[in-house]
Amino acid sequence: MAVPLQIHPSVASLPGPKDSYGRAMNYLRISLTDRCNFRCLYCMPAVGMKFQPRDEILTDEELIRTVGLFSQLGVNKIRLTGGEPTIRPHLVDIIREIRRFDGIDEVSMTTNALILSRNARELKDAGLDRINVSIDTLDPVKFKMMTRGGRFDLVWDGINAADEVGMKPIKLNTVVVRGHNEHEIDRMAELTLEHDWHVRFLEIMPMEGVGIVYDEGLVTSAESQATLEQRFGPLQPLETDPSDPARLWKIPGARGSIGFISPISAPFCEACNRVRLTADGKIRLCLIRPDEVDVRDAMRSGASDDDLLRLLRSGVWRKPWGHRVAEGDRNTIRGMSQIGG
Ligand code: 5AD
Ligand code: SF4
Repeated sequence: MAVPLQIHPSVASLPGPKDSYGRAMNYLRISLTDRCNFRCLYCMPAVGMKFQPRDEILTDEELIRTVGLFSQLGVNKIRLTGGEPTIRPHLVDIIREIRRFDGIDEVSMTTNALILSRNARELKDAGLDRINVSIDTLDPVKFKMMTRGGRFDLVWDGINAADEVGMKPIKLNTVVVRGHNEHEIDRMAELTLEHDWHVRFLEIMPMEGVGIVYDEGLVTSAESQATLEQRFGPLQPLETDPSDPARLWKIPGARGSIGFISPISAPFCEACNRVRLTADGKIRLCLIRPDEVDVRDAMRSGASDDDLLRLLRSGVWRKPWGHRVAEGDRNTIRGMSQIGG
């Protein structure tokens, strides 16, 4: 598929460093760890996952310093991801430190919610605004299989705890995997009838270590939407923020919304406003392409703030455009848990 090199007008006017296409990056997604207490079948291999040695992971100080530099460049939104961000030591302090930067307006987190029933209040008080939870099925047996061991009841309690402390809007991410959950996505969508949650269905991406699941066949957003419309009738389209990769809909009369995220069938490069910081301190410019900028080594070899600002600015400038996954290209370099989805 040829990718049009025309950017969405709204991304040109965002605060934040620009790339060579004119897209401005106001959104930084930070992987706090590549480790996880689950082994979702589209994210990690069942056994033999190799994790990064601790001394390669950014220290808290290095991490906070990088966020501060990005905020000086205009980044105003932060998302914490993993692996599973809640297993990072000192998470509460990290959130509090990030919130100290004047320019940062929003801190959110993508989590599996396993331990949120214990610490949702503390995280909220530290300054965590909201969460996205990865949850692919409401069937506890299937859940255990898709996460390779995860406890559904604890995750469900975690989601409700986050809701109760006001982390709104709660977004649930469901990766649709052929042969596993594509016939029960209506049960996920049904949650929006009662709850003001956003349930979003993601096309699976071919990341390192998960080739087999991907090759069983992509379930496109169009197919997922058709499945839902068979059950609920036509969905109503909703206004969407252009830099949100989800196209939004709702079941007529529902409290919450339904989103489709289609990185494969409809890449959203023209409105991309995000860069990633990997747990080992590389700026990852695109989820699917390998281009990275090494901030950690620059910091560890004594770079000044000015040197680092230059490095970040020139790194962002090189952000690539487009991927060729639909044509058979594979990301065989790093898995999602290392990059931070
Ligand atoms: N394809 C699509 N989404 C994925 N995620 C993890 N691996 C994949 C994949 N191969 C999702 C998780 C989480 C988000 C960060 O990325 O479900 O919600
Ligand atoms: Fe863990 Fe999220 Fe990967 Fe599942 S998708 S193994 S919860 S990092």
